[in-house]
Amino acid sequence: MKRRIIQTKDGSSSIEVEGLDETYHSRHGAVQESMHIFIGEGLHPLMERLAVIRIFEVGFGTGLNALLTFQALRNTKVIIEYTGLEAYPVTEEEAAELNYAGDDLSQQEFFHALHAKAWDVTVRLHPQFNLIKRKAKLQDFEGVDYSADLVYYDAFGPRAQADMWQPEHFEKMFRLLSPGGVLVTYCAKGQVRRDLQSVGFEVERLPGPPGKREMLRATKP
Ligand SMILES: C[S@@+](CC[C@H](N)C(=O)[O-])C[C@H]1O[C@@H](n2cnc3c(N)ncnc32)[C@H](O)[C@@H]1O
Repeated sequence: MKRRIIQTKDGSSSIEVEGLDETYHSRHGAVQESMHIFIGEGLHPLMERLAVIRIFEVGFGTGLNALLTFQALRNTKVIIEYTGLEAYPVTEEEAAELNYAGDDLSQQEFFHALHAKAWDVTVRLHPQFNLIKRKAKLQDFEGVDYSADLVYYDAFGPRAQADMWQPEHFEKMFRLLSPGGVLVTYCAKGQVRRDLQSVGFEVERLPGPPGKREMLRATKP
């Protein structure tokens, strides 16, 4: 798959997969979309009730969600245990072209470390942030050793990659979440909503970011 860096409408960069006609984020704004869905509707509500939050991301990609999660910790004591699952990692050269960290040196250092650190080992990037990147396909991932409070479900859309949206994967996410745990995704397709419900989630349709009418938040009862 050939990839190229693009600029989205809020000025933040993203990656386009040539041939698939798919981008890693909304063309309306990568940071805007991730802030709304994963941070606003996923992380923030959990920060009000948990001191340690275990996050599992499907599709680590550019590391944008990990960076925004780290930024959300400012002035809090919350600790994040972050697992990023990724089958086709972004290269360090590609990561260097992404503008998410801005001019802030400590953010740049954190973002660089997200990509430079080894796969499949836990690394402490900050006293409040531990990371393990798992290089594996979701289809091969059993998830037996993991548990999570929050899932960022950020696969390519069902049109481009239907096999990432099969009920068996939602079942895996349901199993690895703790009771009260939450899965958030930008995808609001009716079939995806019904499949999430069929494996046991309670699903809310929430307003989406600009360019997207709705998103989904699924909670394990
Ligand atoms: C929509 S992009 C989002 C990535 C990331 N969350 C971000 O903000 O950059 C989807 C990601 O899923 C990854 N992916 C594709 N197929 C996969 C698979 N079978 N298992 C795990 N990850 C996969 C892609 O390489 C890509 O990084």
